[in-house]
Amino acid sequence: MRIYCIECNSSVGIMDKVYTCPKCGGLLDVEYDYDVLAETVPKSWFSRPLGVWRYGELLPILNRTLRVSIGEGGTRLVHCRRLGEKLKLKNLYVKDEGSNPTGSFKDRGMTVGVTKALEFNVKNLICASTGNTSSSLAAYAAKAGLNCIVLIPSGKIALGKLAQAVIYGAKVLAVKGNFDDALRLVVELSSRPEFYLLNSLNPYRLEGQKTAAFEIYEQLGNRAPDWLIIPVGNAGNISAYWKGFEELSLLGLSNLKPKMIGVQSKGANPLVRAFKENRDPTPLTEVETIATAIRIGNPVNWRKAMKAVRKSNGLFEDVNDEDIVKAQRTLAKTEGIFTEPAGAAPIAYLIRHRDDDLIDRDEVVVCVATGNGLKDPDTAIRFSEKPVEVEADSRSILNYLRGLS
Ligand code: F0G
Repeated sequence: MRIYCIECNSSVGIMDKVYTCPKCGGLLDVEYDYDVLAETVPKSWFSRPLGVWRYGELLPILNRTLRVSIGEGGTRLVHCRRLGEKLKLKNLYVKDEGSNPTGSFKDRGMTVGVTKALEFNVKNLICASTGNTSSSLAAYAAKAGLNCIVLIPSGKIALGKLAQAVIYGAKVLAVKGNFDDALRLVVELSSRPEFYLLNSLNPYRLEGQKTAAFEIYEQLGNRAPDWLIIPVGNAGNISAYWKGFEELSLLGLSNLKPKMIGVQSKGANPLVRAFKENRDPTPLTEVETIATAIRIGNPVNWRKAMKAVRKSNGLFEDVNDEDIVKAQRTLAKTEGIFTEPAGAAPIAYLIRHRDDDLIDRDEVVVCVATGNGLKDPDTAIRFSEKPVEVEADSRSILNYLRGLS
């Protein structure tokens, strides 16, 4: 196993507590001896339950006895026949990441990142968050008996996520600024020895997140999808999925790699702009979207994400808030999957681009529903029909129902 800089390729020691390259500031990544691993996997996986730790050989943990786990991964891959019919797609699937222990994909990364914190013997875990990272980190810190400090953009995180962070015992600081300000602050603080940073700048977290790609491969009967559509904020998750699919190919398990479609919100779309204008992204200081999870103007993992999208022959695209709200409801009403607004962005993309000829009706398409809808009850209620008050007798209920038809 080697930790290296994606810019200058210099190596970093496996026990060096750094988040970016000490030489050039580039993002770090982890590589394994794929030729050796190809001898043992996937046979070694079969005896283990579906989930992050099934893929232990491809995780950067030296001491597995320290593992901090609350049952992450192993989420459903739902064949969406009813929604697929509407969208003229025979093989539409949703990876339901909202069914992770704290209700989002972040748990995949935190089980690895917090285990790493125990290896490093640090006591104070810190992150900036639009909500889900903080919920997840707070839970894993609680399980590990470590302190957790989270910085959130004041007034801009969904209620359920705040409730989770506080109930799991995190110290929650509401920063008068946006997510990008909060991230800048935690990066500054984490240069101090007493803190350990668990944002997606942390390469170990993304190692956990890539396991969703392995699961999809197995759940599809040992094949990668033709398309993977995923919401993008700080751009860590799309990078992690791509890495997972690349590793399957390096291990000789899959020749096919999906084309990646990264979906941002129109009000927070730095990568879409950069992609369309074929340039590096410029940070956006004013960002706004109903999908608060992806309300991010300066994605730290943009280099990895841009590479993933380009290498895969995919694209970045944006959707507006109205599309997101509509997609959220459509997914819930056709498939019984309630995802938060950000998690509905891939479906919003498909609805909006239904008549493009980009995706063939027989191709296998996987949308990642990244977070559980219960995290943001306010938005769901705001855009839904209000409950109707009736008298407590069946006649008035029947009268009301007759009036509807
Ligand atoms: N979907 C949800 C539900 C999220 O919470 C996030 C990110 C994303 C998508 C985007 O993932 O950042 O890896 O591109 N939430 C982070 C947080 C930023 O703080 O919870 P990304």
